[in-house]
Amino acid sequence: MATIKKKALIIGAGTGGYPCAIRLGQLGVDAMLVEKDKAGGVCLNVGCIPSKALISATKLYHKAQHSAEMGLSFGAPAVDMAKMQAWKGGIVKKLTGGVATLVKGAGTQYVTATAEFIGPKQVKLRYADGKPDDIVEAEHIVVATGSLPIEIPGFKFDGKRVLDSTAALDLAVVPKRMLCVGGGIIGLELGQTFQRLGTQLVVLEGLGRILNGVDNECADVVARQIKKDGGQIHVNAKALGWEERNGEAIVKAEVDGKVQEFATDVILVAVGRRPVTKGFGLEKTGVKVGERGFIPVDQRQQTNVPGIYAVGDVCGQPMLAHKASHEGEVLAEVIAGKKTINDARQIPNVVFTEPEIASSGLTKEEAEAQGRQVNVGKFPFSVLGRAMAIGETAGFVKIITDQKDDRVLGVHIVGPEASDLISEAGLAIEMGAFAEDIALTVHPHPTLGEAVMEAAKHALGEAIHIANPRKKAH
Ligand code: NAI
Repeated sequence: MATIKKKALIIGAGTGGYPCAIRLGQLGVDAMLVEKDKAGGVCLNVGCIPSKALISATKLYHKAQHSAEMGLSFGAPAVDMAKMQAWKGGIVKKLTGGVATLVKGAGTQYVTATAEFIGPKQVKLRYADGKPDDIVEAEHIVVATGSLPIEIPGFKFDGKRVLDSTAALDLAVVPKRMLCVGGGIIGLELGQTFQRLGTQLVVLEGLGRILNGVDNECADVVARQIKKDGGQIHVNAKALGWEERNGEAIVKAEVDGKVQEFATDVILVAVGRRPVTKGFGLEKTGVKVGERGFIPVDQRQQTNVPGIYAVGDVCGQPMLAHKASHEGEVLAEVIAGKKTINDARQIPNVVFTEPEIASSGLTKEEAEAQGRQVNVGKFPFSVLGRAMAIGETAGFVKIITDQKDDRVLGVHIVGPEASDLISEAGLAIEMGAFAEDIALTVHPHPTLGEAVMEAAKHALGEAIHIANPRKKAH
């Protein structure tokens, strides 16, 4: 057993840990990144990237079937799930393989081992190949251990009938029927993906609406699409348990107070994720873990124990890859002695449903709850030339501005390429822009981005291609 001295040690090579390790290397800090599994964490291995690969393949499949209006006809498209999975696997392999190369290239040591705290400044590394353990002593230790799917009573994950998102992403065949417990981001993204490959979809959501936290009107557009494609969404539906009966899974749920049964082939349970704070000796460090299992941190990602930091899912909502990366990069600068803090004004949220939903900043309800009077500008894709030309006209851009000074408070988009369109809104909010800043920025024609400009104009009462709700005083 050897003792290795490092200035910084990062535990976990997910989207929080690896950008932190790269940035530390760039800043000349002697650092080590330790990962027990494959680099890239949930996002690259079993989350964002593989799901988006399947979603984009599915979109193409769906388009091929629905292009007759454009004068295009194809033979009946077929799904080769094994081939699609292999293609997806290739993308994952390329990206995860690249992580270690990037880390090493930046000058940070990359180690495959299981890390366990033995004290606030000491971590033991266990190697899978039987090599003797090492001890790493580091001045700064970063916990970037991520999160895991929550399991609920009555639905033990078995990888056959009851699936978590990882198992659903790896399905070798398209199931005939899928029931999603949870109408959140994962339930709808994956549920709709399989629905578009031919699966009959049923969503059971415990609350009174799907996609809680997302702008209501945006969520309604997606709900309508799922139902139009033959799916069912039940809200106020609490899943109670399931049993095997005559070769199918029967799910029992309380819907609006009445117990109902739903027959299905697979059950995707996506009821949220929980932070990983157990199993690696964190309790030996004195680091405080909050009520919901998250590690509280300040704006420098510092826990209550000096020299121990946390980034990503483990330190709180929203559990998003880009939030984790930002925290990791900020923290690297903190460790390197810079006066950096995490003061992000907005963290965009994207739901890769069909159509996509993307938001940045406050919803109307959130802004009003802060006591603000707001204006709402809205521009539908149905009247936008480019949206018509790509045959994707469902949805709109909605901009919430402060009545006081027309400052942009929030932007909510449901529609084609919402995931890419939202970055303009993120920049606007980060820079404290006013509606005029977006409205007077010349946007290229014909593009989907014009809808963002028109929505800003609409909030000012100056939209060109739709009627305006109020006259601006001149
Ligand atoms: P979620 O929090 O988005 O949704 C879970 C839903 O399950 C909630 O609406 C909740 O009310 C419902 N629920 C809980 N217990 C239930 C029960 N017994 N019966 C019926 N409904 C029940 O969680 P999800 O979808 O599992 O996603 C986990 C995390 O992963 C999220 O925090 C999200 O931020 C992240 N993620 C982000 C993605 C993106 O950015 N595009 C994609 C996938 C995941």
